Amino acid sequence: MRILILGGDGYLGWPTGMHLSAQGHEVLCVDNYLRRNLAREEDSEALFEVPNLHQRAALWQAVSGKELQVRIGDLCEWDFIAAVFQEFQPEALIHYAEQPSAPYSMKSRHAAGETLRNNLTVTFNVIQAVEAYAQGCHIIKLGTMGEYGTPNIDIEEGWLEVSHKGRQQRFLYPRQAGSLYHTTKVMDTDLLWFYVRMWGLRVTDLMQGPVYGVETHENKGHEELYPFFNYDELFGTVINRFMVQAVAGYPLTVYGKGGQTRGYLNIKDTLQCLRLSVEKPAKEGELRIFNQFVETFSVNQIAEKVQASGARLGLKVEVKHLPNPRKEMEEHYYNPVHSGLLELGLKAHPLTDSVLDEMMRLIIRYKDNINRDAIFRGVKWKK
Ligand SMILES: NC(=O)c1ccc[n+]([C@@H]2O[C@H](COP(=O)([O-])OP(=O)(O)OC[C@H]3O[C@@H](n4cnc5c(N)ncnc54)[C@H](O)[C@@H]3O)[C@@H](O)[C@H]2O)c1
Repeated sequence: MRILILGGDGYLGWPTGMHLSAQGHEVLCVDNYLRRNLAREEDSEALFEVPNLHQRAALWQAVSGKELQVRIGDLCEWDFIAAVFQEFQPEALIHYAEQPSAPYSMKSRHAAGETLRNNLTVTFNVIQAVEAYAQGCHIIKLGTMGEYGTPNIDIEEGWLEVSHKGRQQRFLYPRQAGSLYHTTKVMDTDLLWFYVRMWGLRVTDLMQGPVYGVETHENKGHEELYPFFNYDELFGTVINRFMVQAVAGYPLTVYGKGGQTRGYLNIKDTLQCLRLSVEKPAKEGELRIFNQFVETFSVNQIAEKVQASGARLGLKVEVKHLPNPRKEMEEHYYNPVHSGLLELGLKAHPLTDSVLDEMMRLIIRYKDNINRDAIFRGVKWKK
């Protein structure tokens, strides 16, 4: 298939590009380096440098013999995205191209405004480009489990059957996001659902939990093909952050009581979920929603696991409970359904001791690159 990866330079986009290329698909990765530029502006560079997208594509070709196409440009620009669609004629697209940091989106009025503008404009342009140039193209969109928040009832996969005064209707599951970034994802879903109803688009919206890890089947033994590994408060996800803190001798930064529970997955499972979604597409006129994670942990449980991994490798890891800079429940009910992707064939990789220790060993090798000042900044949800 011809598959367009929007945000193809990113933490998830680049490994997805290689994975689908390895499966024999024709892949075009598009990016405007927003992530790299923001990380540089904020002095939140990744643990190790990664080559630019053109260089990565050449490295991948040398390793695999497969060609992966690249375009650099801003998907908020209609002329650019229209040209990409006209030229490539995608049969499926994976839309990763958003500003993905919750703390960044809460940092300032400017950052919030840019997150809102960028994320919604890209989603809107994607919908318009599919309708104008690639009708029938399957849109696979990355949402987040954060769209649901932490309701006091079970979280279903995207939809809720409501009985009211003796009548029934299926609605999008009620969503109450906990940051401006997560709210843009809710708005994306609404936009997609609107155009599914109006124009009969074919859409899969993946409500993904925080991802950890860097190694995939395609980059194993080829560190030059690893994705970004961010460990700072703005762009690092919590397991990746805690692992680097452990290696740096920086007490693990648990916010508040640490009972905040979320669904996590290995980057290898992200790739499987995306491949399965491509191979088994949504129907025309369907907004298909999956909850994309493998297991749930509280922040305290993650801190304990990282501490234990550190101990196995001879590191003494402290845990510190900090006043919570975010506005969130620190103890709550959390029981999300996540059977859809398992039914499609997902073979999950759980967070085992050996997975943690392997990541820890990698980070130890790059220990000298760790910038301790970037680890914690205390971006507050409310000034
Ligand atoms: N990483 C996670 O744990 C996680 C969890 C849940 C959901 N998600 C979602 O998955 C997607 C990918 O996440 P990621 O961690 O790879 O983030 P990322 O920032 O590494 O990747 C996104 C990529 O999109 C690009 N981009 C953004 N706006 C663009 C634009 N206007 N034009 C062209 N390119 C643009 C960025 O430069 C970046 O390379 C995001 O939408 C994110 O919200 C990620």
